[in-house]
Amino acid sequence: MEMNTKLWFDPAKLLVGGAWREAEGGGAIPVENPSTGETIASIAAGTAGDVEAAVSAAEAALDGEWGAMTATERGRVLLRWARLVEERAETLAFLESTDVGKPIAQARNDATALSRYFEFYGGAADKVMGETIPYQAGTTVLTLREPHGVTAHIIPWNYPMQILGRSIGAALAMGNACVLKPAEDASLSALAVAALAEEAGLPAGALNVVTGYGHEVGAALSAHPRVHHVSFTGSVGTGRRIQSAAAENVVPVTLELGGKSPHIVFDDCHLEAALPTLVGACIQAAGQTCSAASRVLVQRGIYEEVKAKMAAVYNGLVAGPASGGFDLGPLVSGKQKAIVTRYIAKGRDELTIAGEGRIDDSAPAKGHYVAPVLFADVPADHALAQEEIFGPVQVMIPFEDEADAIRIANGTDYGLVAGVWTENGARQMRLARRLHCGQVFINNYGAGGGVELPFGGTGKSGHGREKGFEALYGFSRLKTVSIKHG
Ligand code: NAI
Ligand code: MG
Repeated sequence: MEMNTKLWFDPAKLLVGGAWREAEGGGAIPVENPSTGETIASIAAGTAGDVEAAVSAAEAALDGEWGAMTATERGRVLLRWARLVEERAETLAFLESTDVGKPIAQARNDATALSRYFEFYGGAADKVMGETIPYQAGTTVLTLREPHGVTAHIIPWNYPMQILGRSIGAALAMGNACVLKPAEDASLSALAVAALAEEAGLPAGALNVVTGYGHEVGAALSAHPRVHHVSFTGSVGTGRRIQSAAAENVVPVTLELGGKSPHIVFDDCHLEAALPTLVGACIQAAGQTCSAASRVLVQRGIYEEVKAKMAAVYNGLVAGPASGGFDLGPLVSGKQKAIVTRYIAKGRDELTIAGEGRIDDSAPAKGHYVAPVLFADVPADHALAQEEIFGPVQVMIPFEDEADAIRIANGTDYGLVAGVWTENGARQMRLARRLHCGQVFINNYGAGGGVELPFGGTGKSGHGREKGFEALYGFSRLKTVSIKHG
């Protein structure tokens, strides 16, 4: 790897049962730096055989040292892991930014968030409690929270460290043994983080990492009959396949499938406070964010003013190499650039462009850059206002009144996050209750929010909740014990 950084892991190997080894059959996948289009390393192309070995290793961990640990001991492992992530944060951020193309400052935030996930779930591990339930005379009933067993974690490429942290962190805190499949477009940070686990004292087999293609490793993992829970973040199509595969084995799934999240801007809002967030919550990670606020609904009376102000911001945005301190980096891959470019071309044909950024001259021609675009006066039912684009593209839609805003906001197949900008307290509460989504931000916008906040969707944004304390319930199952003692 042509990086001036000494790595503590071998990117070409898988982690199974505490041992680093090549994929069965020795297949490899090139690792691309999307800022330059250059191949910088290769990762192992895992197989169904590697998945089988990883599941067996996870089972052995549950039967062995890992399964015997107390909740407090599991928490301490996570806390040590959090410190190690913090110590290596600069290298982790560098890896992520090189592999995914996100500006280094955003990758540093991701490393900090990862450490915070391990810290949060480390602290929470021994605070998950059951209940006693009043029942018949002479009987005591109590509930136990137990791990599912072997859990599968299929994660995407947009926020590998953050999504790994929320998923693995909560699952391990509850005592599950994990098999992680990172995205083929971005596996380096997952391998780097897994390589720190042993140092943190995580027993062999509690976390296994099988890199490889989705249709191969991901499909084998989600259909594996000895996997007891599957958590997935990614596209609706793949989520549907994963839920179908898991249904064959009748195991629960958690699906986080992105969205078309709105900002709803009322004419009584504090506009200057809202403005940086209106744009920032979409172009973060070049728009490749599940909770990107890709629709901006603005009340008619201030619509032209907001349009002019947002357009001015867009006209100043610059995309460039991840290392360069630009507003946004390239997209993750040529495939993603092709998807986004098609949407922009459609918008150019059918809609009005209000503002448009540019690509810096220093950006290599083989990098996957897209200049950010703001479309205005977009009909609420237009494809660009309905479909997840997953690129730096935002649409503005005017609305008349509160009822109109709610109708438009709820009028997509998705429901992940919503931002509401108004100083009217009663209206804040009405919208919080009437919006169909998993998170509502009022006079702020978290793009998924902090580590502490439960997160997940409704409709095609998926189901189940990750993050916060709530995730611990998803990664466990409840057992009711009734004791007749007279
Ligand atoms: P994808 O959903 O296919 O990939 C996400 C993960 O699923 C990767 O690890 C991939 O290897 C795995 N996977 C793919 N096919 C699989 C299968 N048959 N069985 C099991 N696992 C499988 O998403 P992709 O193709 O990378 O991106 C396409 C679109 O998906 C994006 O344009 C965006 O709209 C959406 N997306 C949403 C994300 C979110 O955060 N909600 C993250 C990534 C993509
Ligand atoms: Mg890459």
